[in-house]
Amino acid sequence: MRIIELVSEMQQLADQWRRQGKRIGFIPTMGFLHEGHLALMREAKNRADVVAVSVFVNPTQFGPNEDFERYPRDMQRDVRLCTDVGVDVIFAPSVPEMYPEGFQTGIEVSKVTIPLCGRSRPGHFVGVATVVTKLFNSVKPHLAIFGQKDYQQWVVIRRMVQDLNMDIEVVGHPTVREPDGLAMSSRNSYLSPDERQVALRLSRSLKAAQDLVDRGETGGEVILEKVRDILDSGGGLRIDYVQLCHPDTLEEAPRVDEPAVLLLAAFVGKTRLIDNCVLRPGK
Ligand code: PAF
Repeated sequence: MRIIELVSEMQQLADQWRRQGKRIGFIPTMGFLHEGHLALMREAKNRADVVAVSVFVNPTQFGPNEDFERYPRDMQRDVRLCTDVGVDVIFAPSVPEMYPEGFQTGIEVSKVTIPLCGRSRPGHFVGVATVVTKLFNSVKPHLAIFGQKDYQQWVVIRRMVQDLNMDIEVVGHPTVREPDGLAMSSRNSYLSPDERQVALRLSRSLKAAQDLVDRGETGGEVILEKVRDILDSGGGLRIDYVQLCHPDTLEEAPRVDEPAVLLLAAFVGKTRLIDNCVLRPGK
């Protein structure tokens, strides 16, 4: 497995692969890989001839009071995990390689970035859309796979790829969970054992919402109240948002007569966690 740090070198390899008629699968990550990332890589291996993984903690998608500095990093371990899965190349550029002196361009996707994490994290999605475009232009993939744990990000990237005619298939992979239901995230490593127990309320509340819908409930407010009740039970957690949205437009969904996505974000201690699930009526 190769490790490439320069955009130009990554582009050369991508061009060579393309000349050889190889289908390039790509997983963008910020490293500190976990089983969720590995599932995306295995999916890419099934769907493509060669697989590239980027490891880049992108400073421009973090707000001034967020966790860029302390975001967990372990390149040696990431290299080992990627090697074991059979990844062909890790693209791991430095910050100055991605944002050299004079850099001044940003990609702004409009409506779908306004609610949810867009409201809580101003500038976040400009950072994401811009870096993902730069990564796409470096790796030149035919296919890119994103985890649906970051549901809004997945919607934003799909919108951007469609709007800008990027010739890339964007695939969403279902959230991978710990056996107790906690959605896998590099940020789970911040949680103390007590906080980890509190964090289980996220997935439990989503499960309770689906149970309500399974029993015939379609009223959005009833469902949201149930979710908030579970999140608020017992303290130790501060809700950032709980919302029901249309799965593609992310416009607020007042009812679950059609599938709707339930998205939530909450602080457990200092750690901000997100989770979501698509609620389907009459399941
Ligand atoms: O989901 C992530 O890890 C990041 O937002 C991404 C897509 C790698 C962009 O930095």
